[in-house]
Amino acid sequence: MNITDLRKISGLPIKLKGNKLVFGKGMKKVVPEGRTRERMAAVLKNPKAKAPKEFYDMYRDVAMEKDRKKIMANNLRFDITILPAFNVGDEPNKTFGHYHPKVPKTKTWWPELYEILSGHAHYLLQNGSEFLVFDAKPGDKCLMLPGFAHVTVNPSSKEPLVMANWVYPGFKSNYGPIEKLQGAQWYETSKGFVKNKKYKKNPPVQLISSKSFPEFGYSNSRPMYPDAIKNPKKFEWLSKPQKYLKKFAEYRKQ
Ligand SMILES: [Fe+2]
Repeated sequence: MNITDLRKISGLPIKLKGNKLVFGKGMKKVVPEGRTRERMAAVLKNPKAKAPKEFYDMYRDVAMEKDRKKIMANNLRFDITILPAFNVGDEPNKTFGHYHPKVPKTKTWWPELYEILSGHAHYLLQNGSEFLVFDAKPGDKCLMLPGFAHVTVNPSSKEPLVMANWVYPGFKSNYGPIEKLQGAQWYETSKGFVKNKKYKKNPPVQLISSKSFPEFGYSNSRPMYPDAIKNPKKFEWLSKPQKYLKKFAEYRKQ
């Protein structure tokens, strides 16, 4: 079985063994929640295509035990998701996709920050009027902008995708709109993007780049776990995005 050491890329003593995470010294084992074929059928281009029983594993609340208090006190949560490499018909493995809710009494939504630890990712973001795609490699950070639903695709037919995220732990994601329309506005397939005809509109696919954004405490050249532990205030935009609307606009301009 393949073992990949993820310490350098993540800043945590973790390894990838096959398609599972192994936790090292100073960490407690986290039991992942799996996303099943039965659940995923609702968002597949071809729900009848042959597929494995489990699509991906979500390890929620991953941390060094010594950091847990600090992470909680700063309204953050660190998760790791693993998407094995396989196709369902002509569609590569992907996440279900969801929107985040609005921050109460504001006009904005909670964002999220992703980081690739191993493999390759495409993040598909939609907000009704725009459809954005990040193409991301190990070390890259991708901001799930407020108000955008997001689906993650593992475009590789060989390598599992391992990705981490920092997010505010106090909301529940909304899977309903994506489920109702059988996935996002576009399906990524091995032959390119294919329109999901259940939508009235399919805005053009726009490729955007991952980038360092020091204003939000992170850089593509460093792992984001230790950055947030060292300077959690720099990550306050995750729990209080309403204070950072100008910064989100700057991020989009670049
Ligand atoms: Fe999310």
